[in-house]
Formats: sequence, C-alpha cells, structure tokens
Amino acid sequence: MKQIPFFNYPALFAQDETELMPIIHDVLRRGAYIMQRDLTEFEENLARYLGVKHVIGVADGTIALIMGLRAAGIGPGDEVIVPSHTFVASAASIHHVGARPVLADCARDHLIDPVSVEKLITDKTRAIMPVQLNGRTANMDLICGLADRHGLKIVEDSAQALGSKFKGRFAGTFGVAGTCSFYPSKTLGCFGDGGAVFTDNDEVADYLRLLRDHGRSHTGDVIDWGYNSRLDNLQAAILNFKLKTYDQAVARRRQIAAMYDERLRDLDDMVLPPAPDSDPDHFDIFQNYEVESGRRDDLRKFMDDNGVKTIIQWGGKTIHQFKDLGLSDDLPATEEMTRRFFLLPMNTTLADEDVEYICETIRKFYKTR
Ligand SMILES: Cc1ncc(COP(=O)(O)O)c(C=O)c1O
Repeated sequence: MKQIPFFNYPALFAQDETELMPIIHDVLRRGAYIMQRDLTEFEENLARYLGVKHVIGVADGTIALIMGLRAAGIGPGDEVIVPSHTFVASAASIHHVGARPVLADCARDHLIDPVSVEKLITDKTRAIMPVQLNGRTANMDLICGLADRHGLKIVEDSAQALGSKFKGRFAGTFGVAGTCSFYPSKTLGCFGDGGAVFTDNDEVADYLRLLRDHGRSHTGDVIDWGYNSRLDNLQAAILNFKLKTYDQAVARRRQIAAMYDERLRDLDDMVLPPAPDSDPDHFDIFQNYEVESGRRDDLRKFMDDNGVKTIIQWGGKTIHQFKDLGLSDDLPATEEMTRRFFLLPMNTTLADEDVEYICETIRKFYKTR
C-alpha cells in the first residue's frame, strides 16, 4: 500500500539541498546574521515580484499582522472585522493591538463573505482584515468598495496567499498593509519562522522598519515602542533562493489542483475548491486544497487506513468556536462548513501517481461504502 504523508519536510528539503547548502555556508562564513544584505536583497526581489513599493521582512506572519495593524493606526476601542474561518493568529493580532476582533461568516469558497462583513459594521469599526485563505484572494472589489463607503482601512492577512491574485493584483497589496508568512509548510516556506509586511506607503514602510527593530529609527533614536522582530538574514537568503523558482512551484500546485478537480468533481457528496482557470478574476496558488464532504470522518478514516494522511485546519474549530476566547457568535455558513471541511495533501513533493492514488482511494470509498 502507498503511504502518502500530508506533508513531507525532508522530501521538500531534498528537492533543493544541493543548491541550498552552499548558500547557507556562505551566510555562515560571512557571519551575516541580522539585517544584512541577504535580507535587503530578498525584500527588494519580493517587492519587485509583487509590484509593491516596500516589503519589510519580520520574524513571523503574526507579528507582521500586529505591525500592519499598528501602522494602520488601529488601537484600543476599535473594531476590526475578520473571518472566523482563519488561524487564531489573525484575530490574536487584533486583540494584541488593543482592538476587538469581530467575526464574519464565510462564503461558498470558504473566504470572508462581504455580505456578512457589511452587517457587522458599526460606528466603532475601523478596519477589515480579509484573510486570503488557502491561496485564494477574496473578491476585493466588494471588500474595497465596503471599506471606501464606510471609511475603513484594509489590513490583509495573506499569510496563505503569496502570489495569488484578484483581477491581476496580488494578495497583500490592496490595503494600507498586507502580510505573509514563511512558515515552513507555506508555499514559500523557510526553515523556521518568518514573515513580511507589504506596503506602497513610504511613511508606513518607515514606521514598520522601526517597529521591527525595537522602535529605533535609522539614526538609532528610539521613537516608539517596538519589537525585536526582524526576519533572520539566513532565512532571507534561503527565501531569496526559493523565490527564483516560486512561479514553477505555484504552477505545480495548480496542476495538482486541476488533477484533483478532474478526478473528483463528479462526486456528489464532495465540494471542491474552484478549479484553477475556472474564473478569470481569480488566480489561486493552492496553499491548501480544502474540500468538503458530508461523510468526512468516515472518508478520512478510510483514506488513513489506505495510507493517505489528511488534516482538518485549525483542529476543526474556527475562531468563534474556541469558547475560551469569548468571541462566540452565530455564523451559520462557517458552522456548516466546519462539520464538513478537511485538507487533501497539496505540496510540490507529490508525484502524479500520488495524486492518482489519493483520488482512486476517495473514489473507492464512495463506491464501496
Ligand atoms: C491565515 C493565517 N494567518 C496568520 C498566520 C500566522 O503566521 P505565522 O505562523 O508565520 O505567525 C498563519 C500561519 O499559519 C495563517 O495561516
């Protein structure tokens, strides 16, 4: 029986080991650890890739959100609308700047539902945090339209969507600030924690640069309370190398998504993500392949018994379902989705035969059970 792990870190490293080891050696031999040229080069290369003026490399995707919110002027007394179907880090970042996360429902594509957002706007709302989940960018015409009409800022959580686009524009480039995460399993992953903030605004960029470095300006004066939150130079060197072939990695993910779609779309019980190229407005990079099944638990058990590992995001609970956080809410679409959602393996270490096997296993379940 084939064994297909959900994610295979050693195999991912092996893909690039020969090229990566001399890069790592070079950084170590230079003793270039903190805020060195590899970081600057990576920031410039990523900014060019995204068509954005500034990229600021930081310690992780969570602090990137906290800093993005601070740069947008969000603080105590403010409300920020964020989907419940996201990693707790999105809402935590709002909490940590002293504001209140207000949780929105999700749409059919599992992303923030603009209809739900509009209902949640109050006189305290200051910002919307769309989460560009699973490698897809929300309909930003609708989100930006709401923000414009109500005078709200947008701080985008594009931790899962580097390279994804809506109407040709990259995730993370629509608002005051956008963020991404380089967590090792992300589409552009480093060998530890890492993140970045994107902005077109020079003043915001200056502020973010000082926030990540203890609040120090380029003269060394401390002009605000900051953090020790720089992207390590070694991680930047690794990311700089991976960025060169990033488009190929995205193309492979889209190929795998197309294979899943072709082989599974006729199964009545399953809901699949929109197929690549099914909508010209969206360019999805498939950080995850999140499906729904009415028989999820039995199906996952069958897949597991047949060597295919799957996972459920956030341990199966969206933010409003973590009762201890005190954000319980009535979000019917999210509730329904959480009973059905899970992730099929999706990464560049999967061979076509692996994808075939995963699909055959799923089809066997529906034929025999
Ligand atoms: C949607 C989302 N937001 C925020 C984060 C936080 O990023 P990090 O783990 O780099 O802090 C993640 C990471 O998993 C994420 O998936």
